[in-house]
Amino acid sequence: MAKILVNNSGPLHGEVKVSGAKNSVLPLLAATILTDKLCVIEDVPNLADVSVMKEILKKYGAKIDDSEDGVIKINTPEIISCVGDKDLVQEMRASIFTMGPMLARYGKTVMPLPGGCTIGKRPIDLHLKGFRALGAKVTEDRENELVTVEVGPEGLKGDAIYLDFPSVGATENILMAATLAKGTTIIENAAKEPEIIDLANQLNKMGAKIKSAGTDMIRIEGVEKLSGCVHEAIPDRIETGTFLLAAAITRGDILIKNAIPGHVRPIMAKLKECNVDIDVRPEGIYVDARDRELVATDLKTLPYPGLPTDIQSPFMAFLTTVKGSSVVRETVFENRFMHVVELNRMGADITTENSREARVPGGKKLHGAKVRATDLRAGAAMVLAGLVASGTTEISEIFHIERGYEDFVGKLKSLGADIMRTGEN
Ligand code: UD1
Repeated sequence: MAKILVNNSGPLHGEVKVSGAKNSVLPLLAATILTDKLCVIEDVPNLADVSVMKEILKKYGAKIDDSEDGVIKINTPEIISCVGDKDLVQEMRASIFTMGPMLARYGKTVMPLPGGCTIGKRPIDLHLKGFRALGAKVTEDRENELVTVEVGPEGLKGDAIYLDFPSVGATENILMAATLAKGTTIIENAAKEPEIIDLANQLNKMGAKIKSAGTDMIRIEGVEKLSGCVHEAIPDRIETGTFLLAAAITRGDILIKNAIPGHVRPIMAKLKECNVDIDVRPEGIYVDARDRELVATDLKTLPYPGLPTDIQSPFMAFLTTVKGSSVVRETVFENRFMHVVELNRMGADITTENSREARVPGGKKLHGAKVRATDLRAGAAMVLAGLVASGTTEISEIFHIERGYEDFVGKLKSLGADIMRTGEN
């Protein structure tokens, strides 16, 4: 079983380059099946989730050339299957991002339910609500845990869709489906994340007519056909935030290159409240936490432009080390405190009021322990905690980390971390 071993590392120092955003690249790749022309996606990180998406697209008929580092060339001359592979879908929830493009291009998509969840409840009810509004029929086969979404020969038809919650994935799926629908689609209470804008930019390069992506009301005029594109993914704002926190928790200083400061404004704002010094420079974001008394602050996660839920667990690891105590509120996901148990194994003493609120006492001297990466971002939190804990922290289930952080161990090592990966997957 592969593991990451981290020792107390002292202040991290140096420069690090952020990779292309996982959460952009997955929908950008899914969008390529909207056309039979060649699409080239650049700055693609080497991640397990990207490999899964490539496999899914291949099963639909995509021909993929990924011989060049960081570049994926995809051509899907024809769709040969519209059925999502059960194992791949179970492995990665973002497989459902292929539903919108498949429906628009092929008129039908059959998807195993991610994680065996029932329809009508979380997590894909908003996606399905959008497809229905565009004229698709949704059928659930509970016995085989499959959902079929299909549209008649008349194709999809634009409509106004109100999202009860600004779901990132539902906005992306509806956006992709609506590009080829007849007439106008309006998504109200749409998600405003930078990854939505990135996807809209790629789709517009392909010939789509999308306006005001990045606001809570997106307008899409359907077109008959989409063409190919060359598109570079935006840098990963969660990876950027993770390195901001790596500097903060180790009381080090790091220059983070290839970061878009505007995308991490809430993370920088909260770190500044903790008295971390952050300087946005032409060459990158410089974060300096050396020789400063860092203090507690409360956190509340929100859809963009609020503080991202994906940074909540790494931020919590940092808060265990500052002066004073903090309250962390998670409002986006119902159960995103699994890292609390793991941080407590390291001496954090965090208490949870319910699944939405945690009290984090500061000033803790964490100690190394055997912990689990319970999910992707929780795994990053364990690594950050391990950098400042006494002794060795042994992190298992690191496949979660490798789903979303490109060369995390290598990048941290280059900043002076005492960290290594052992064992085989
Ligand atoms: C995306 C990101 C993930 C991030 C999340 C929130 C990708 C690949 N993943 O996930 O890293 O944590 O945004 O910023 O981009 N919901 C429903 N019904 C739905 C869909 C969602 O109730 O049909 C709920 C979810 O259960 C959750 C909330 O909405 O409580 C947010 O989910 P959503 O924005 O859809 O997240 P994802 O797109 O899955």
